[in-house]
Amino acid sequence: MKYKTIMLIPDTQFEPGKSVKHMNYAGQAAKEWGVDCVVQIGDYNDHPSSCKYDKDKPGILGSRNIRADYEIGFRGNEEFEAGLGNHSCRRILTRGNHDERPRLLAQTIPAISGLVEEYEDRFENMGWEVYPYQEPVKVSGVYYSHMFTRTTAGKSSAMSVRSGASSAKAQLQANLMSCTAGHSPGFQYTELPTEEGLRMSMIAGSFYPHKMKYPGPQGNKHFQGIIIKHMLKPGTYDFEKISLTRLKRMYG
Ligand SMILES: [Fe+2]
Repeated sequence: MKYKTIMLIPDTQFEPGKSVKHMNYAGQAAKEWGVDCVVQIGDYNDHPSSCKYDKDKPGILGSRNIRADYEIGFRGNEEFEAGLGNHSCRRILTRGNHDERPRLLAQTIPAISGLVEEYEDRFENMGWEVYPYQEPVKVSGVYYSHMFTRTTAGKSSAMSVRSGASSAKAQLQANLMSCTAGHSPGFQYTELPTEEGLRMSMIAGSFYPHKMKYPGPQGNKHFQGIIIKHMLKPGTYDFEKISLTRLKRMYG
């Protein structure tokens, strides 16, 4: 199917207690820009209660709130739909490593597997086409995945499977195709002219209003926002960055 305009929604990392109102702004923007297709690039939910680094801490299971971690994401989707109104568009979601957390935890704690599957079923049926973690989906000649793991040596390494490409340039050199990823906070872009057209590589991994604790005070200064891709031709597009600040000013 041919699309004219795609909206990229980077990692939303919905977390209980944090605002989801920005998804309403994204929905309104999709409507106003006449977006044909929306791609949410994964780490839709943060799933702090399923963090593997906490699994061995005494008493942590009692404080887990698997349900709340999923429910906040459903609320985010309700806000998006409210903003979108009656505008129709395709919705694609490529799962991220955080989205995998509950199922991974259930392998360690079988008692929660029923609950996790119940919520995963709802997650997979909330109105988005959901693609498996690290399996790229091609839309208008561009491959989308939460991360691209191939290195310039042509294979995936233990490091690249965990973290993806180290930069947009490395992602392009390893894959030699137009590709868009999330995962890494901020925004990176590079392109390569070829006889068959531009090859465009983008990494955009942050669309959340809150600050993360783990990067420290210097690690929260990066771009937060969405990307609109216009003038779509196979593998190429013009793009526009729209910051969360601008979205809030326009639609808040
Ligand atoms: Fe990620």
